[in-house]
Amino acid sequence: MLKTRFTEAFGVEYPIAQGGMQWVGKAQLVAAVANAGALGFITALTQPTPEELANEIRRTRDLTDKPFGVNLTILPTINPPPYAEYRRAIIEGGVKIVETAGYKPQEHIDDFKTHGVKVIHKCTAVRHALSAERMGADAISIDGFECAGHPGEDDIPGLILIPAAADKVSVPMLASGGFADGRGLVAALALGADGVNMGTRFCVTQEAQIPDSFKQRMVANDERQTDLIFRTLHNTARVMKNKVSEEVVAIERAGGAKFEDVQHLVAGKRGVAAMERGDTDDGIWSAGMVQGLIHDVPTVKELVDRIVAEAEEIIDRRLARMVERLAHAAA
Ligand SMILES: Cc1cc2nc3c(=O)[nH]c(=O)nc-3n(C[C@H](O)[C@H](O)[C@H](O)COP(=O)(O)O)c2cc1C
Repeated sequence: MLKTRFTEAFGVEYPIAQGGMQWVGKAQLVAAVANAGALGFITALTQPTPEELANEIRRTRDLTDKPFGVNLTILPTINPPPYAEYRRAIIEGGVKIVETAGYKPQEHIDDFKTHGVKVIHKCTAVRHALSAERMGADAISIDGFECAGHPGEDDIPGLILIPAAADKVSVPMLASGGFADGRGLVAALALGADGVNMGTRFCVTQEAQIPDSFKQRMVANDERQTDLIFRTLHNTARVMKNKVSEEVVAIERAGGAKFEDVQHLVAGKRGVAAMERGDTDDGIWSAGMVQGLIHDVPTVKELVDRIVAEAEEIIDRRLARMVERLAHAAA
């Protein structure tokens, strides 16, 4: 039993979450995470319309009677998706937990809270965590520099960011970025978090609906196989190192600092087409440094059970024995 403020607040068995993942956060994975006792999030914007999100919520509910949530990613774009309609699909679909991520979540938090939906806001800086807390977020998920996707521009790794945030944030907090196993979970708890959020690790499970070639590449990769793209655009993204990411970085280093310079390489359509073909080299794919800790493709249940068992073993035995030994030495 690993009870934390997170498990209590969100009614889940284990202090483990599967954060929103574009193209990956779908019913089958999210329900498997829920059935394993952790908290999974459907990724709202993976569904092309709010109606399709409503269907995906229904599909997930058909597969589990445990709690699950929806991730709503707020994109810095001039033509935003119809956020209010996506929010309606979430609220009317009876979802009680939302993970928001991105800029200025206030209107989303307000709407969700008015309708009794709990919000976990995911961010990458202590100051953003505190402002989300002031806006009414029920929990924070804080993403260190190691993470897949958007690590922000401060480049603060989890080892500093998590305790720095834990010192100041009052609501329950998930540590995110770089977690894959029981050691990481115990470390996060020791650093002051109430649980972990994982992305890349959950991509490499049997239930994630992505081609096996992507999973095998992430298993084969070590911790160095990521690139940071969009640094020059101040919208940094950590992605799996491949031919396209290397080309983007080369263009940025050569002075290309406009989105148009790299648009043909990073276009979502190109990425989706590459994924559908199983081609790991022809598009951009979010993945974290934690690839270096991923060595197999388990079922979600095997993964969650393993993480929890390892964490309990470390706390109960390895660490407890260290304290005992210290006590003996002092006696
Ligand atoms: C393939 C992939 C897609 C992602 N897409 C999103 C997204 O759409 N919205 C979001 O808030 N986070 C997204 N993330 C970030 C994850 O939710 C999570 O914060 C991150 O993966 C944690 O780092 P880790 O991969 O080291 O566990 C994505 C991550 C991956 C691996």
